[in-house]
Amino acid sequence: MAKPNLIAGLDIGSGKMTCIAAAQDPETNMLKVLAGRSVPCKGLRGGMVSDIRETSAAVTHILGSIERECNRDITNLYVGMRGAHLESFSNHGTYNISRMDKEITQADMDLAVENAKAMPIKNDNEIINVIPQGYSIDKQRGINNPEGMEGSLLEVDVHITTGSSTHINNLAKAIQRPGYKIDGNFYSLVPLADCVLTQEEKEIGALILDLGGETMSVGIYIDGILKFSRDIPYGCDLITSDLSRLLHTSRQHAKEIKEKYGVSFPTFLDEEGEIPVPSLDGRSTHNIKKSYVLDIIQPRVEELIEQVAHCVETSGYKNFPVVGVVTGGGSLMPGITEHCVSILGLKEVRRGLVQRELVTSDEAFFDPQYSTAMSLAIYAAGGTGYDDYSGASYEKGSSVFGKLGKWLKGVDIFGG
Ligand SMILES: Nc1ncnc2c1ncn2[C@@H]1O[C@H](COP(=O)(O)OP(=O)(O)OP(=O)(O)O)[C@@H](O)[C@H]1O
Ligand SMILES: [Mg+2]
Repeated sequence: MAKPNLIAGLDIGSGKMTCIAAAQDPETNMLKVLAGRSVPCKGLRGGMVSDIRETSAAVTHILGSIERECNRDITNLYVGMRGAHLESFSNHGTYNISRMDKEITQADMDLAVENAKAMPIKNDNEIINVIPQGYSIDKQRGINNPEGMEGSLLEVDVHITTGSSTHINNLAKAIQRPGYKIDGNFYSLVPLADCVLTQEEKEIGALILDLGGETMSVGIYIDGILKFSRDIPYGCDLITSDLSRLLHTSRQHAKEIKEKYGVSFPTFLDEEGEIPVPSLDGRSTHNIKKSYVLDIIQPRVEELIEQVAHCVETSGYKNFPVVGVVTGGGSLMPGITEHCVSILGLKEVRRGLVQRELVTSDEAFFDPQYSTAMSLAIYAAGGTGYDDYSGASYEKGSSVFGKLGKWLKGVDIFGG
């Protein structure tokens, strides 16, 4: 029997790339994670390629080792992008059904979405994803799937993400150079939000915050749909820099201290005690109080969350999110949810991981560092129910807009 397709989600992070490879488990019919890797990459800065050779080398390393571990080639590769060059907008498209029968077809829906794409975008920018957010027929709103219904005027709300063609093409080149083909590009906050937030949270009004190393991504859902998304070009690596500078230790040691002892809220300071800090040259250590680490971390975390608050204020949706979900590596810092409650004025904030019913996996891959890569694989396999949108896909060297949703439906992703 042919092996099921190996679907890989590749998360291009700030200074690293992370990949999850999954395939359908023939016994359970569930998507199952078969391998996962995270490798540092000096060729990436803030999610963008700064050195194409370094990035290609990291791609070869990560995808090659995944293929060897799974003992087969990756058949479907989906790439998740991040970075301050990405911009998102909500837009509206309309289409008049002038036929006698007035029964709405998929082609009519596509044309409404196509019309919604007609908006000015910056020079050197291109559309990455267009996500239909809901339709209305003859002004009746709240229709998820109008196919087969009757109407004269079809309207659609979409969430569009655009990005710099230069950055997108450089990333595509870095991945294609070692011989890999990209089956789809995503703005990776969207699959992540779909795998981490519950439908109830999206309906009530939710803010998702992905706290990465060099980027914080913010998404706002209202009435079940994504209204706003933005990447802020700062992240938790700033906490590492502060610790390194003020404790006179290397960035690596500062990172370890942050992840092992760091808390951002006084109530999480379990006991007063001292921790050893290696000197810059690593030849000696000095001891500092744990409370001193808190004194360094707390103001930086407050500043980061205040940046998020500013972003929410300028979004036009300030008063809508009721609950918050924080994810990404930075969400592991004890005290972070408390800062989100107090600074963002949310009623409730929780840490978010990929919902377990969407995929079978070893526990290790449910760690936040894999969440984005895992959500890319789940999303590509249609596991979150959102397979109906258009996106850009890439053939060698050129970018073509394709209907990824259709493409996914047309291709037997679980076939052999
Ligand atoms: N246990 C922990 N406590 C505090 N911070 C942590 C912990 N584990 C990881 N981090 C921090 O989370 C950040 C990395 O998060 P993540 O893996 O989500 O980032 P990334 O995807 O590489 O970056 P980006 O999303 O900016 O592209 C780093 O600053 C790291 O030090
Ligand atoms: Mg990330």
